Amino acid sequence: MIAVVDYGSQFAHLIARRIRSLGVYAEIFQNTTKAAELKNRKVEGIILSGGPRSVYENNAPTIDKGILNLGVPVLGVCYGHQLLAHVLGGKVVPSSKEYGKEILVTAGKTRLLQSLGKKEQVWMSHGDSVVTLPQGFIVAGKTQGCKIASYANDARRIYGLQFHPEVQHTVHGMKMLENFLNICGCRRNYTIKGIDRKLVAEIKAKVGDGAVIMGVSGGVDSLVASALIKKATPNIYCVFVDHGIIRKGEAEYVKKLYEKLGFRHYYYADASQIFYKRLKGVTDPEEKRRIIGRTFIEVFEAKVKELKAKHGNIKFLGQGTIYPDRIESAKASKAAAVIKTHHNVGGLPEKMKLKLVEPLKDLYKDEVRELGMMIGLPREALMRHPFPGPGLAVRIVGEITAERIGIVQEADLIFTEELRKSGQYDKVWQAFAALLPVKAVGVMGDSRSYGYIIALRAVTSVDGMTADWAKIPNDVLERAASRIVKNVRGVTRVLYDITQKPPATIEYE
Ligand code: XMP
Repeated sequence: MIAVVDYGSQFAHLIARRIRSLGVYAEIFQNTTKAAELKNRKVEGIILSGGPRSVYENNAPTIDKGILNLGVPVLGVCYGHQLLAHVLGGKVVPSSKEYGKEILVTAGKTRLLQSLGKKEQVWMSHGDSVVTLPQGFIVAGKTQGCKIASYANDARRIYGLQFHPEVQHTVHGMKMLENFLNICGCRRNYTIKGIDRKLVAEIKAKVGDGAVIMGVSGGVDSLVASALIKKATPNIYCVFVDHGIIRKGEAEYVKKLYEKLGFRHYYYADASQIFYKRLKGVTDPEEKRRIIGRTFIEVFEAKVKELKAKHGNIKFLGQGTIYPDRIESAKASKAAAVIKTHHNVGGLPEKMKLKLVEPLKDLYKDEVRELGMMIGLPREALMRHPFPGPGLAVRIVGEITAERIGIVQEADLIFTEELRKSGQYDKVWQAFAALLPVKAVGVMGDSRSYGYIIALRAVTSVDGMTADWAKIPNDVLERAASRIVKNVRGVTRVLYDITQKPPATIEYE
């Protein structure tokens, strides 16, 4: 097992996913973890992630030095690279920033960079640099702006990479991670093959003849979790809460999907009027999210109470929590935080004396999709784009009104149709239409008209933490735009969003 120690990087989870995809189990550990715990867990290698701090600052996160005496290989990435150098007696100073693609010129001989070229494209993001190495270490690579972009001590099996081997822009980053796994002597036998049987058996053992209640959204995680639970027990009660700010046709789609999959107890709770009433006049994005989160829990709780009164054997609450939802990053993103509150449904399990069933809690999204395929769920349902809990509310800037919801729904449907028809849908992480509440002029027939601006957004990403705008072919964008202005009343203009995350976010609010 590889321990990925999290120093607050958005990429800590990405490192763990990459290691798993190389066939070795990886878990995230907090940066306060002690050597004894890693030893107990029989960790075979340790990777220190990047992070936003500077190692020379007061109270900067550090490492239990005992970890470096475990005799287990250690690889520091970015902040981890600086931290190792710092604690072992080297020197780290503020330097000119390097951000983006750089060429690494490899130097010195080390197992970490074995079989790599003399020049390698790598991806950098740092404002501090290691300028003096601890004793016994050699420089393994440099870039134009960074004299010690990688260092190594093969005898102690301690290494540093200033750049990020886990991101795609580091072209041979996987080879570097693979070399590290070889240095650790890890057996490459981690796979999720057969995990469905194991998970179903675990659920069976846990729930016995009790029943499980579960909120479902039509999203991948709740779908796979509910399908697994159904394999373990026929007593699963699915509840779909419709807050009225969802995609057009979504409620029908989810109902049909669950019917087709043979779920016998499926409940639809139409709560749209309560949500609309509470959101009336609200324009502050965080306030909107809070209202939606709170109301969602309230409605769900009422439904649970009602069903529990009818079916006394409901003793469990099923949830589609996945690994990144559970393991809070040292610097949790806005999305992670909100997703978490959604998942925890506000202390509901304790209040209602329900025990949690979370079969996906140790898996990453790609593993969840693979598991979904394994148990025969429709590919189309598993490949759906992520959809945020607060729904279209985060895609309507300003006040939410019935008119604006209708406009976004129509525009979104057209954009999605065009993406599907052109084969672009599966190539992007997420795509949608958003409404900007300013009016721009257009010409309809002979007269000038004023209407809203629709922004189309399509992004590529591996986990939603960082994203690039998708290079959708112009003709696809053109068809979507002209269909939207022609068919969606109240829209006079369509823009395509070409901002990256960071600095922008994927959603609009
Ligand atoms: P941002 O907009 O923060 O989004 O770049 C990153 C990813 O998270 C999703 N997202 C959310 N998901 N509740 C959710 O369940 C939320 O409040 C929320 N906000 C953003 C977003 O769709 C994207 O995939």
